[in-house]
Amino acid sequence: MKGDYYKTEASVKAYIELAKNVNGGTLIELLKDYLPLDSKVLEIGSGPGTDWRILNTYFQVIGSDNSDEFINHLKTQNVNGEFLNLDATTLTIKDRFDGIYSNKVLHHLTNDQLSQSIKRQCQILNDSGIICHSFWKGEDSEIFKGLFVNYHDKPDLVSFYKDSFNILYLEYYEEFETDDSILLIAKKK
Ligand SMILES: C[S@@+](CC[C@H](N)C(=O)[O-])C[C@H]1O[C@@H](n2cnc3c(N)ncnc32)[C@H](O)[C@@H]1O
Repeated sequence: MKGDYYKTEASVKAYIELAKNVNGGTLIELLKDYLPLDSKVLEIGSGPGTDWRILNTYFQVIGSDNSDEFINHLKTQNVNGEFLNLDATTLTIKDRFDGIYSNKVLHHLTNDQLSQSIKRQCQILNDSGIICHSFWKGEDSEIFKGLFVNYHDKPDLVSFYKDSFNILYLEYYEEFETDDSILLIAKKK
């Protein structure tokens, strides 16, 4: 159903099955080069929780998602974890973090929403806080499975982030096909 992907029990089950063999382990290894172990980290769009579990072995991580279905799944699967319903654009939370991580989440934001999210991420990061986000590489945007998908490339991401962050790492990588993805790691100015 249009707009319901990630929000229904059936679509969440389908996504968990689809994503069961992928995880952000290599992205998190890179993040560890920039963010001290045991730092306080917010994950945006935790979804199935695969990356949350990896992050949780190195950092004090709070997971989040804007889907109640995913939040229920995350809480059931990780009874000692902390999970919040947060929207990536508004990030309505009082806590402050040393790091913010997302893996293939922020491409669901329009350009205006991404700009708003970047401002909000700055506000909830401690001084010199680190962000680590992955995106799908490409141009323009489309509706896929009823969801808005916004594609980015390196110059485009530089223009979004350069005013508020010093870019530490920005490289294409392969999720399913050569250079289909981009990883950004940056430090709050
Ligand atoms: C492609 S999945 C990625 C999930 C997980 N990070 C992974 O790597 O498997 C996108 C996730 O972002 C969440 N999401 C989509 N839009 C969001 C938003 N505006 N705010 C917070 N989470 C969002 C979805 O519910 C879903 O869990």
